[in-house]
Amino acid sequence: MKVHFKKGDYIFRQHDPGDCAYLIEKGRVQILITKQNTIVPLSIIGESEIFGEMALLDNLNRSASAQALDDCTLIVVSKDQLLDRVHSADTIVRLLVQLLLKRLRNQNDQLNASEASTKSYTEEGEGISKIRLENKIFEAFKNKEFLLYHQPILDLNTKTIIGSESLLRWQSPSEGMISPSLFIDLIENSSIIVPVGEWIIEESFRHLQILQKKMPNYSISINISGKQFIHHEFINHLTEIQKKFGIDPQTIKLEMTERILMEGVVVLDTLQRCRDLGYQISIDDFGTGFSSLQYLAKMPIDFIKIDSSFVQKMLAETKTEAVVKSIIYLAQTLGIKIIGEGVETEAQMNKLIELGADYGQGYLFSKPIPLEEIILV
Ligand code: CMP
Ligand code: MG
Repeated sequence: MKVHFKKGDYIFRQHDPGDCAYLIEKGRVQILITKQNTIVPLSIIGESEIFGEMALLDNLNRSASAQALDDCTLIVVSKDQLLDRVHSADTIVRLLVQLLLKRLRNQNDQLNASEASTKSYTEEGEGISKIRLENKIFEAFKNKEFLLYHQPILDLNTKTIIGSESLLRWQSPSEGMISPSLFIDLIENSSIIVPVGEWIIEESFRHLQILQKKMPNYSISINISGKQFIHHEFINHLTEIQKKFGIDPQTIKLEMTERILMEGVVVLDTLQRCRDLGYQISIDDFGTGFSSLQYLAKMPIDFIKIDSSFVQKMLAETKTEAVVKSIIYLAQTLGIKIIGEGVETEAQMNKLIELGADYGQGYLFSKPIPLEEIILV
């Protein structure tokens, strides 16, 4: 929607409640505040600039007045248009936005500071605790509090273990085992994923070397996150570690979510290079992301892991069963092997076998366990 103001008109006044922002299409707008009955101009803005966003972002009243310096045409920017973006942003970004707003308001010196700090308290709390947790994770990593567990993967026909997925665990000396749900996402979305990811690869290879002494064909699936995979040193590091442990890349599955495949040419190129080096590619949580069937045919993929949510619902919901059936059918046609995740009951296992899945992973077979226990299985 567009609105027009005549030269000299007030678009809004300081302390008014604000329900929209404006993008200037034509004309200039002066931003001003009133201090001890005198007008203090803050800024003159022109075409393609936005104003009136602050009241929407911090839910307080207008921090300044806006007056048309010419006849103006403005595009109305709705609250939802802005706030949907802000709400979907990372909590730390939201924290920074709140912080900058508070500083600017204080600078304009028109604000009851206590009001601002209480209103932004929860936002600040979340962002700050995230920064704290990130630092704690980094310390934990440096103090070698991380370890790898293994969840076995079985051949559904022979019911024998073919390998396992290595899973990151955090054993804190003061707090005990910390739930992965509290830190995995945070690691994957911060730059610490690169050193942690390198450690996971090295540790997985080290474990695999031990496991292959007993079971020569044993394979390990290593979770690789997007940031890690597109890092320019990824392949060099992988190759260095592979040489150090003398492991056959054929016994390594690089496991990544389908979201990674959306990243475009760089990913396709790296996938192809990993494949050329002999690694196997496995797509994790299949069916939960932005799956496009097109990429399955285009990308060099060896395994698909059907997400546990499908495995757990397929017996009760015929539609879910139909989805699983078609994924398996498509995979078979493309020469891709299927691993069912989150298998918890015999009935689920039998259904997977009936639909043609090759492998299974889940509590029915084993929960994630330490290396020493895998050797005993
Ligand atoms: P809002 O508080 O919604 O309404 C007044 C607007 O003036 C504010 O959003 C900003 O868009 C703008 N504004 C506030 N302070 C300044 C400043 N110091 N310099 C430039 N623009 C400002
Ligand atoms: Mg996985």
